[in-house]
Amino acid sequence: MSNTILQTHNLSKTFGPVTAVNQVNLQLHTGELFGFLGPNGAGKTTTIGMVLGLVSPSAGQVELFGQPVSPNQTRPLRRVGSLVGAPALLPYLSGRDNLRLLARLSDDVSDGRIAEVIERVGMSDAAYRKVSSYSTGMKQRIGLAAALLHRPDLIILDEPTNGLDPKGMREMRQLLRDLVADGVTIFLSSHLLYEVEQICDRVAVLNRGQIVAQGKVSDLLGQQKMTVKVGVTSPAQAQAALQSLAGVERLSANGRYLEVSGVSGEDIVRHLVQHDIYPGEVITQRVDLESLFLEMTESV
Ligand SMILES: Nc1ncnc2c1ncn2[C@@H]1O[C@H](COP(=O)(O)OP(=O)(O)OP(=O)(O)O)[C@@H](O)[C@H]1O
Ligand SMILES: [Mg+2]
Repeated sequence: MSNTILQTHNLSKTFGPVTAVNQVNLQLHTGELFGFLGPNGAGKTTTIGMVLGLVSPSAGQVELFGQPVSPNQTRPLRRVGSLVGAPALLPYLSGRDNLRLLARLSDDVSDGRIAEVIERVGMSDAAYRKVSSYSTGMKQRIGLAAALLHRPDLIILDEPTNGLDPKGMREMRQLLRDLVADGVTIFLSSHLLYEVEQICDRVAVLNRGQIVAQGKVSDLLGQQKMTVKVGVTSPAQAQAALQSLAGVERLSANGRYLEVSGVSGEDIVRHLVQHDIYPGEVITQRVDLESLFLEMTESV
């Protein structure tokens, strides 16, 4: 059985002279929480629009559950739930009544299922209150409940934490983790790195319509060269000594610190000691997803 739930093949979209999405190849595996990262205007919403059959691609294809999707072929979308932007809810109805209204669009959503999704998103206490009295976080929860009504296998969320306060964001993250534990696959777009870094198994980074990286967060970070900062009393002497260390890629002095990349802290210390130089401090600087992301999305 194939493990791929969603795949795009050279998916592209142009709006006049603007190439919003450029040859995007995404691959989502069953059961994962996949992060789709990119700065504003990168093309995330346009890509999602094509995946949901709302926007027709200029080139390339979307495949969901092994079947093609387009505005004319929406059958596989029956197994998908989505929340793109703020949910369209009627403010003068309760959360529950909004869900009942939306449930009429699907064939087989019972009142029991409505109660179940309300419970799932933690809105049982507020379900009978009017939506106009809800916080942004509560509206997002009802939006997510709506996406869950027809028991989708895949949920696509476009920036679901936009406008939420830190507590609301944390609750939404927990909710997404719980859903994945229930067996749902999640495609989550976000421009917030720390959000994605915390909860996603794999990520794709989009910049100006193109994928600049895709893979496990740990692998992406692992590919990056670490920088080692070495504190010495005589930087000029140490810098001269390190010229002869094999593997050094970058070497610069900053006050009494040397910044070295391409080699490990251990190799640097061993080499310096062999030259009778004893470093007082050795700091290995971890590259986090944020610096990696900035590097990938700025240098184009
Ligand atoms: N209907 C449209 N007509 C013309 N240009 C569009 C249209 N939709 C999107 N674009 C352009 O395509 C590019 C990608 O936009 P998109 O909304 O997909 O980015 P995004 O990654 O979702 O950004 P954000 O983080 O701001 O939501 C932008 O340059 C945008 O101006
Ligand atoms: Mg967007």
